[in-house]
Amino acid sequence: MQYNTEDINHLIRNRRSVFPNQFIAGKKVDENIIKEILINATWAPNHAQTEPWFFKIFSNEGLQTFANFQSELYKQEAGASFKEDKYVKMQTQPLMASHIISIGMKRNEAKCIPEIEEIEAVACAVQNIYLSVSAYGLGGYWTSGGITYIDKAKTFFGLGEEDKLLGFFYIGHVAVPSPAAKRKPLEEKVEWVKG
Ligand SMILES: Cc1cc2nc3c(=O)[nH]c(=O)nc-3n(C[C@H](O)[C@H](O)[C@H](O)COP(=O)(O)O)c2cc1C
Repeated sequence: MQYNTEDINHLIRNRRSVFPNQFIAGKKVDENIIKEILINATWAPNHAQTEPWFFKIFSNEGLQTFANFQSELYKQEAGASFKEDKYVKMQTQPLMASHIISIGMKRNEAKCIPEIEEIEAVACAVQNIYLSVSAYGLGGYWTSGGITYIDKAKTFFGLGEEDKLLGFFYIGHVAVPSPAAKRKPLEEKVEWVKG
């Protein structure tokens, strides 16, 4: 099957991160679309068919549950580095989204492949989410901020000790599109070998 490569190139090159303050507040994304996006996520390449992703989806009142959890855990763990504005942001920002997806890597029990490859596969799944969100005309972004790397957060997101929390994907309808972006010239990033 031949796809429309012009469309695909356009989608890949014009996909942009869209942040929560650019979302239409309170406007919900149809859950069937979220499911399609998640199905696309699970079609990412993965070594040895371990399918190492695990997603937990927060919507409706679940957004408040998420906000409470992350802000309280931050408060508990921050110690001397606690910042009131960061705490308030953790309480309020999730409520700007329609859906938040926690991005987890579940380590294959047999550990048949290196951990980094399980993480790489999940990153591929997230790119599928990014592209699908764009294709549906929605906005979203991957954040590894907040409580992502606090080990105690894992259980809440359905992850065990050997697993990794890789962040959160926020999705919403777009009120303010992101500006065009830039990438470095290809010549800086590739080297051709022809002989
Ligand atoms: C692993 C990963 C973690 C990220 N974490 C954050 C984050 O914590 N905060 C943020 O503003 N953007 C985050 N981003 C999104 C980047 O800021 C965004 O991809 C980058 O600015 C390029 O913009 P584009 O996605 O529109 O091409 C993350 C992206 C990746 C791949």
